[in-house]
Amino acid sequence: MKINGKHYLTIWHDDNENNVHIIDQTKLPFKFEIKKLETFEDGYNAIKDMLVRGAPLIGATAAYSLYLASKQNEDFAFIQNKVNEIKTARPTAVNLSWAAERVLKNLDKNNIKSSILNECKKICKDDIKISESIGDHGLKLIKKIKKDKINILTHCNAGWLATIDWGTATAPIYKARDANINVHTWVDETRPRNQGSSLTSYELLNENIDHKVIADNTGGLLMQKGMVDMCIVGTDRVSRNGDVANKIGTYLKALAAKDNNVPFYVALPSTTYDKNISRGEDIPIEERSDDELKFITGYDDDGKVKKIKIYPEKSKGFNLGFDITPAELVTGFITEKGIFKPQELIEVFK
Ligand code: MRU
Repeated sequence: MKINGKHYLTIWHDDNENNVHIIDQTKLPFKFEIKKLETFEDGYNAIKDMLVRGAPLIGATAAYSLYLASKQNEDFAFIQNKVNEIKTARPTAVNLSWAAERVLKNLDKNNIKSSILNECKKICKDDIKISESIGDHGLKLIKKIKKDKINILTHCNAGWLATIDWGTATAPIYKARDANINVHTWVDETRPRNQGSSLTSYELLNENIDHKVIADNTGGLLMQKGMVDMCIVGTDRVSRNGDVANKIGTYLKALAAKDNNVPFYVALPSTTYDKNISRGEDIPIEERSDDELKFITGYDDDGKVKKIKIYPEKSKGFNLGFDITPAELVTGFITEKGIFKPQELIEVFK
């Protein structure tokens, strides 16, 4: 996808410099900054501090962190330890452990560094293909809506910034734009970190997709008024039965969608389906610092970063990053293999 007309991926290896690069997403939408990751710790911290975020991108960064570890020490036991360590960077998105395990499984003990680098590149290449296929299948759903203008609501950022390219929830929107369909996107701001208002708006703007940012509490009313034709959200982990962990607030949108007969779709790459967890209540939910609630950071008119407090110093907050949407609220999963009901996933991804 493009930023100021130039095509970027969210993470890449510079073969000349032999370094890994990311876009620092904590600076968006006000500053586009590319950051070099040079050590395993750089990769670990980029995930933990959310310079990169979004399930598929977290996975790819975990893989590249292992490559950076192999540049520090090309020893199998060392890499095995780093696999366990990287899994602790963030708990909810299953792509993290999936990617780390994939690297370990495909590691050539006689050629550790180059086999890991090879696998990192494959993980990224596969992810782009998966996202694009999700876009193609999602487009079929959008085409079924016979209206002059189609309104899609999305939550958080499950866009290309959360993957390597295309995005999951946004890929059908980009495909619809390419098919000359008039799509408009309602972008939930997604408190507390505002991935919707800072990131989804930024990428849609750069891709010339018509959109409006809405407060998190607005979606229900829009659905009652018939102003939402479908919801498409991403996911960090789907349990075997089809329960969906995604950014906090997703569940409330699914409830409102059910109450108003609005189709509620989850864009699900196979890498985010966790066969090993039977129900959503067993998915670990990340709890983050309540500073994310207490403070808002932004750039003032002079381009200076300002962090301001928005509630009393002595009040404590409780900041859970994700919620669980029960399978019965999901109309369908848009996957790289097609569109499926929750109960079909186990067969599709066996
Ligand atoms: O905390 P984040 O920003 O990593 O959360 C991201 C989400 O919840 C996304 O919707 C999810 O990872 C899907 S990304 C294709």
